[in-house]
Amino acid sequence: MNRNRERQSNPLIGLLDTLPVTIQTLALPDPRFTSLTFPRFRPYLTEPKYGERDVKAVGMMAGSIPIGLALMGRPFTQTPFFDPITLERYHQYQQPPASPAPEDDAADDHAKRDHRRLLSLFIHKQWRRRGLGRDLLKAAEQVAFEQGSRCLTVQYSGKTKQKQALESLLEHCGWEAPQLHSQRLSGPANWYLKAEQTWPKLMPFLRRHGFETTPWLERTAEDNSAIEALVVIGEVETLLAPRQAFDQHCVPDLSFAIRRRGELVGWIIGEEIDQVEGVLYHTGYVKPALRNRGWLIGGMLETGHRQSALMGPETTSWYETVGDNPAMRRLMDERVSTFAFSIDPRWGSRKALNATTLRS
Ligand SMILES: CC(C)(COP(=O)(O)OP(=O)(O)OC[C@H]1O[C@@H](n2cnc3c(N)ncnc32)[C@H](O)[C@@H]1OP(=O)(O)O)[C@@H](O)C(=O)NCCC(=O)NCCS
Repeated sequence: MNRNRERQSNPLIGLLDTLPVTIQTLALPDPRFTSLTFPRFRPYLTEPKYGERDVKAVGMMAGSIPIGLALMGRPFTQTPFFDPITLERYHQYQQPPASPAPEDDAADDHAKRDHRRLLSLFIHKQWRRRGLGRDLLKAAEQVAFEQGSRCLTVQYSGKTKQKQALESLLEHCGWEAPQLHSQRLSGPANWYLKAEQTWPKLMPFLRRHGFETTPWLERTAEDNSAIEALVVIGEVETLLAPRQAFDQHCVPDLSFAIRRRGELVGWIIGEEIDQVEGVLYHTGYVKPALRNRGWLIGGMLETGHRQSALMGPETTSWYETVGDNPAMRRLMDERVSTFAFSIDPRWGSRKALNATTLRS
């Protein structure tokens, strides 16, 4: 229904229009705003263990009615690309900035600055298309800047209903053009059955060449040195490098080192996700010399076998890759996606925060 007809048929709407709209940073917890974000972020608004340290919440009210909410995560210099793990785990993975950015910092070097992530931006249905989303986003940018952040980022699923609305809004507010941030493939753990019928020779071939896997948590000192050496010589992309938090959070039976004749040449790390029975394999790596030769697929088939045995064949397996890893994306699109998988691309955008950009 168009808004004028809506106003005529519902006098209450006209009344709502007269309410003064205000924006303020919320003192948490504040459960009044829970319906204005996604379920996974609601604990931020209701649970006392979270506070300003973890999240910045900017609320919009019409009179005393909450009508909009922007949530921003805590500052970081490096954050995992994968999502969603539990909120607490998400925090543990983030690397906090060493010191706050100077006031006059131009934020041209995104990588080293204090970033914040816009976790959610929401305007109540009844109040959309009046410029309020824009006002709220600008207020959130200002708050992030005043708190020392020099870059705000956002990530969203390609399946988000309001993708078009969000992207136009970001463009309006001077954000960078969206880019593919990551891609996630999901399907039942027993996908390996069909895959092995399609590629009956793959696993025997790999085994003949010394392919084997061992539990990630049973690495030796020698293995750790091998990993360090790979990192030092630049053979491991930053986002695929093992982090300490993997050891803490991985599912021990579903995270493993990939070996060739005993030598550690790769890894696949699986973690359980909030609320869903399944495992997210967020980091899968093999040495460049072994790429495009079936080694990573071999590792993925192992995850299918093990997860089916451990958790059940119908539980879900997710495989996630960064957007700028074309080889892995091709592998997902062209090879693995045929085995009853759905693909969810995640998009991302960002905005440098400084006196000039904040005016746009
Ligand atoms: C995205 C959202 C916050 C936009 O809020 P809004 O108050 O309607 O946005 P505004 O009225 O300020 O719109 C600003 C600009 O964004 C664009 N825009 C907003 N909604 C749009 C839509 N449905 N289709 C196309 N463009 C849209 C337009 O360019 C608009 O400017 P214009 O009205 O001058 O053409 C709102 O749709 C929403 O809450 N969606 C649900 C939650 C969500 O998906 N959030 C994103 C994930 S975090």
